[in-house]
Amino acid sequence: MSVNKEIKKITTNTLQKMKAAGEKISMITAYDFSFAQIFDAAGIDVILVGDSASNVMAGHETTLPITLDQMIYHASSVVRGVNRCLVVVDLPFGSYQGNSKEALNSAIRIMKETGGHSIKLEGGSEVADSVKRIVDTGIPVMGHLGLTPQSIYKFGTYTVRAKEEAEADKLRKDALLLQEAGCYAIVLEKIPAALAAEVSKSLLIPTIGIGAGGACDGQVLVMHDMLGINTEFKPRFLRQYLNAHEQVTGAVQQYIKDVKSSDFPNEKEQY
Ligand code: KIV
Repeated sequence: MSVNKEIKKITTNTLQKMKAAGEKISMITAYDFSFAQIFDAAGIDVILVGDSASNVMAGHETTLPITLDQMIYHASSVVRGVNRCLVVVDLPFGSYQGNSKEALNSAIRIMKETGGHSIKLEGGSEVADSVKRIVDTGIPVMGHLGLTPQSIYKFGTYTVRAKEEAEADKLRKDALLLQEAGCYAIVLEKIPAALAAEVSKSLLIPTIGIGAGGACDGQVLVMHDMLGINTEFKPRFLRQYLNAHEQVTGAVQQYIKDVKSSDFPNEKEQY
C-alpha cells in the first residue's frame, strides 16, 4: 500500500479559507535557512522575511537601512528551508515608495531571485496604486497598517497608533482600499484591540495582528522577541516562549569552561 506523502502547501487561498472557517493563522519572522527549517517543520502557517532583519540581524536602530539585495539574500535562504508554509517577503524602505513601476520592479526581483511566494509593503492610500499594479502582474501582496516602522521618523515614537479618531478613520478606509486594490491579507501593528476587531470584521481578507489584540484573524511575532534572544525589547503585547539568551549564554559559558579545563574534547570525541 502506498502512503500519500504529498505535502499540503499553504497558499494565499488557504489563508482566506482559514478566515472564513474561523481558523487562526500563525505567522513568525525568519531570516535564515536553519530557523526557517525549524519553523516550517513545527507547522507554522506563514514565515515573514521581515525588514526587521535590519534590527535583529544587522543591528541597526531602525528598519530603514536594509537594502533590496540584503532582503533577497535573507529571503532566498529562508525559501531553501521551507517545504510547506507560505513565505512572505518585505519590500524594504526606498524600494517601492517612488512610484508603482519602481514598486513592481522590486516585487519582481523578490519573486524571481528568492522563490518567495508573496511580498508585503507598508501603507494605505499612498501605496494602493502600487498594490494594484503588483497584484495585476500576478504577485500576491500583503498590506501593513497601523505602526508602520518604515515611517518611524514621521511618527517619532513606537507607541500605539490610531488612538485618535482621525487616524482610526484613515486606517479603516485604508484597510478597505487595500482589500479593493487586491491585497490578500493585512498586518495590523500596534493599534487598539477594539479598532483591530472592527477592521477584521469589516474585511473579507484576513488580518494578522501584532500588538492588535485577539480578534485579528492571525498573529505574528518577531522570532528574536518570542524566543527571548532579545532581552531589552519587552512590549506589553509580547509573549516570550523561551529564554534563549540565558540558555545560549549558559551553553557557551560551559563550552568555554570545558575548553579551558581540557575537558573537551575527551577520548570519545576524537579520532
Ligand atoms: O519586519 C517585520 O518583522 C514586520 C513584523 C513586525 C510584522 O513587519
